[in-house]
Amino acid sequence: MSTKSAQSDSANPSKAVFGSLQAAGLTLDLAYQGISQPEWASLFTKADQIGLKGQITELLTGGLVNTSEHRPALHTTLRDLNKNPMLYKGNDVMPAIAEVWQRMEGLCNKWVGVTDLIHIGIGGSDFGPRLAVQALAHSANKSNRGLRVHFVANVDSAELSHALERAQANSTRVLIVTKSFGTAETLMNARAVLNWFKTKNLTSSQIQNSLFAITSNVQAAKDFGIQAEHIFPFWDWVGGRYSLLSSVGISIALGYGSDVFTSIQKGASKIDENLQKIDFKTNPIFIHAAISLWNLNVMKFGSLAVIPYASALSRFPAFLQQLWMESNGKSVDKDGNKIKLSTCPVIFGEPGTNSQHSFFQMLHQGTEVIPVDFIVVKSGMGQDRNFQDSLLANALAQASVLAFGKSKAELKSENVDQELINHKVMPGNRPSMILSLTKLDPSTLGQLVAFYEASVILQGLMLNINSFDQWGVELGKKTAVNVLQSIKNINESKFDSSTTNQIATYRKLNP
Ligand code: F6P
Repeated sequence: MSTKSAQSDSANPSKAVFGSLQAAGLTLDLAYQGISQPEWASLFTKADQIGLKGQITELLTGGLVNTSEHRPALHTTLRDLNKNPMLYKGNDVMPAIAEVWQRMEGLCNKWVGVTDLIHIGIGGSDFGPRLAVQALAHSANKSNRGLRVHFVANVDSAELSHALERAQANSTRVLIVTKSFGTAETLMNARAVLNWFKTKNLTSSQIQNSLFAITSNVQAAKDFGIQAEHIFPFWDWVGGRYSLLSSVGISIALGYGSDVFTSIQKGASKIDENLQKIDFKTNPIFIHAAISLWNLNVMKFGSLAVIPYASALSRFPAFLQQLWMESNGKSVDKDGNKIKLSTCPVIFGEPGTNSQHSFFQMLHQGTEVIPVDFIVVKSGMGQDRNFQDSLLANALAQASVLAFGKSKAELKSENVDQELINHKVMPGNRPSMILSLTKLDPSTLGQLVAFYEASVILQGLMLNINSFDQWGVELGKKTAVNVLQSIKNINESKFDSSTTNQIATYRKLNP
């Protein structure tokens, strides 16, 4: 039987063009992408024609790239440990950032006897910290301080009670993490924890001492009753989905030590450097961004599966959904004109090998071709080498089978029953990329996050869209307030018949 590896790389012209590309501890293997040399040349030309390098410089030097809100996007400054000055509205933002770093470290060193940390936040105030705390729980070299970190995001009291059942009230601290300090879910959970403290007979000063706020709306935090020295600010020039390495990530430092947070910063910063001197032909971030847009617009592949072959990265697909789809899921360009191109794939994913037993059937034989980003970790995956070997073997096998499949002729040569031939044909020519981490530690986690932040932003620049606002989420939030008031009989807003009927049946069930 012919082995696939012997097959020519016809399904793999990009690999023939680039092979593998390195950025810090990441290696992008273009595995199986159907972009030919001439097509790549046209992509490089386009990048030059739109002045992509100049746009990147504008981003990295504080240009108002968030055009609808007239703000810069300075998330890379949050991990610039060299403290290079960064001017915004004529003021250097670095001193304030450095002060927060110092205060975060001070808090880490100050806490003694704290058993539980409840991180209340949602969206960018949750996905990144939750991903990092879960991912690093597995990494050998974290300094676990014995602190239980609980994440509460949804207004589904199951999540909150799961945390409160496990936390010891008199040795619990609460982080209210919200850039706006106006997110309904977060404030609702925060008030519920306040009540919980009271049921546990904590005095008001004990409660005061237990509450901390991470926000850009310092006044609202004070009005809520958080004491000034317990407020860790971040700023309006960093979007929620880009805020992991602002004070939003303080749970990581409190849970594992400020040195671990610093390592994540250093890792991310290594990738940021890749943007400063970008050479399109050798830069894996640009290549990833270009392939993503090519598959979306030329090949018309509307989805992308992101499959981390590491349970520690289970939360990465969810993190990436917000980062990518809230950044680029738009239909007008920076000038408000309708966009003719597709701007963003539907991102989904689950760890491998779990997902092989879930949606890989569709990836291999479905009518829709869905590109795959495989993320693999090549060392340090726990004690038993056999598990690590098996994870990698599965990832490589899946990428190869997606690319080369199995033809009718091959099945016939294997004497497969005639009536099963068509059922067993594997079309192949299904593109994927393999992003390898040398190991999974704070540094490579920071690199992985920064890699995708940068790819999403480069795609936005190439599409001429604003990757830093999110006007599309406002109406849903406002409408929810009206529906909630109607459910509670506070107002009689007029809704569509479906909503009206749903409210009526809900009220009947909950008199
Ligand atoms: O989803 C909308 C959004 O504004 C996100 O951009 C943000 O990360 C999330 O809600 C939470 O917002 P906040 O941090 O202000 O509570």
